[in-house]
Amino acid sequence: MLNRKIRIAVFASGGGTNLQAILDAQEAGKIHSGEVCLVIVNRESAYAAERAKKAGIKTVIITKKKTGSQEAFEAAILKELEKEKIELIVLAGFMNVLSEAFIRHYEKRMLNIHPSLLPSFGGQGFYGLLVHEKALERGVKVTGATVHYVNELVDGGEIIMQKAVDVKDGDTPEELQLRVMHEAEWIIYPEAVEKVCAEMTAKEEQPCRKKE
Ligand code: GAR
Repeated sequence: MLNRKIRIAVFASGGGTNLQAILDAQEAGKIHSGEVCLVIVNRESAYAAERAKKAGIKTVIITKKKTGSQEAFEAAILKELEKEKIELIVLAGFMNVLSEAFIRHYEKRMLNIHPSLLPSFGGQGFYGLLVHEKALERGVKVTGATVHYVNELVDGGEIIMQKAVDVKDGDTPEELQLRVMHEAEWIIYPEAVEKVCAEMTAKEEQPCRKKE
């Protein structure tokens, strides 16, 4: 089937700048093997929801507070994913650790971006600004961002793309965070999404029998 687009759901919790980068890349035709069909937000106040609505994308707010438990939260998410026939999940600043069962269900079909060069400054408890605080505390001269598949180990899945960013003398965590976003995250996340979607569609086009 030519020109088929992979149906993508983006999960976000905060400002949604990575979501915006993906939507902009889609608009510019840089992402053409997939299409964002759904945005799931798990915080009422997340600005990511406004961005998605502005782009005309179906947006659903599902909070753990309202659903009651992690199990019910994930069941509510799954229902939305199934309704929209989602094939690829893109975590973009999604601050919830999904269960192993959920992750297994989307094995090799779920991506995440982390604001460091993994395996440095990753794992349970390393998220957002704290990652940059830890990098500055350690005195690294180079940091960056990593896009990886999600597996049952927090930030431990197969690496898809990385980009390095210089740390400058006197950087504050906020300055470093912004530089990593500008110079790495907003560039490699759209690229990685297109790469994975293109690979997924290419697999479908492969004949299952080789001609003699
Ligand atoms: C981004 O820097 C992303 O890499 C990070 O949260 C921020 C979300 O910003 N994710 C993690 O730390 C995951 N462990 P955004 O909502 O503006 O895209």
